[in-house]
Amino acid sequence: MKVQLTSPLDMHLHLRQDDMLKKVAPFSAKYFSGALIMPNTIPPITTKELLLEYKKAILDATKDFTFTPYMSLFFQNYDKKFLQEIKNEIVSIKLYPAGITTNSQNGVSKIDIDEIGDTLQAMSELEIVLNIHGESNGFVMDREKEFLPIYEVLAQNFPKLKIVMEHITTKESATLLEKYDNLYATITLHHLFITLDDVAGGLLRPHLFCKPIAKRPEDKEALLHLALNAHPKVMFGSDSAPHPKSKKEAPGCAAGVFSAPVILPLLAQLFEKHNKLENLQAFISDNAQKIYNITPPKKVIALEKKAMQIKNEYEGIVPFMAGETIEWSVQ
Ligand code: NCD
Ligand code: ZN
Repeated sequence: MKVQLTSPLDMHLHLRQDDMLKKVAPFSAKYFSGALIMPNTIPPITTKELLLEYKKAILDATKDFTFTPYMSLFFQNYDKKFLQEIKNEIVSIKLYPAGITTNSQNGVSKIDIDEIGDTLQAMSELEIVLNIHGESNGFVMDREKEFLPIYEVLAQNFPKLKIVMEHITTKESATLLEKYDNLYATITLHHLFITLDDVAGGLLRPHLFCKPIAKRPEDKEALLHLALNAHPKVMFGSDSAPHPKSKKEAPGCAAGVFSAPVILPLLAQLFEKHNKLENLQAFISDNAQKIYNITPPKKVIALEKKAMQIKNEYEGIVPFMAGETIEWSVQ
């Protein structure tokens, strides 16, 4: 059995910087036609200089491949003139609540219209997409649910602003998606495969620890329903977030799952298992092209149902499902 995917897109990707960037970027660039690059670097991407410098570093690290880095700015209050100037270099701005995840110390401490409304209005007028890491600072299992009222306020007040709920993990988020025309979502690979039980129900699995934390079986089912049916408001975004092994296998484990090298075979396996292979193209590319209004370079990836063993490490970084044998591989 085989499937061909045209111009796969990863609409939520952490590529890091320097040596780590050089190590991990080829895994995405080899299989994907483009990706939305997260701006939670050190320092975060908040100026045109930083943005262009980062884009150049990514292009250098991926020069052997046809790959478009779609750039995103780290949310802070920006004036409209600046946004107008940078508009052609970015597709979106990513908002992190302050301190909620890796390198988000400079995020927004109070997400309300009085504080950030002018920037959101300017984004809306300039048709810049808003990506949000939607978690409160409450109890870890409730953070995403507690954030939903903020999505509602933003969606209501800025009906023309496209808002992407990043890496959704709950059935409540899946439901909210239907309530506002301007809400969209990304879903990761790992949240389609695991629940909290896989992370902490048996032996503790640090390589499955990420933000937002994987939730309950019924939440995973809701995400599967959206992804397998390629709901038109939903896109694939891996949230592949590499950390050195020493930061993962540590008393304080960094949040992030490194999935970049194994995404397409695992998605093919999952969609085939549910008899939905025909919907994978929309989930992995077509929906994102429409939502972001982008046309990535053409790149065809052929996958076949042929067993493959995932390596224990790629460039010293432990991937999702390390060491496991899976049913599909890239041809
Ligand atoms: C991401 C990272 O390491 O940059 N970590 C994660 O657990 N997903 C940040 C993020 O997207 O939350
Ligand atoms: Zn992320």
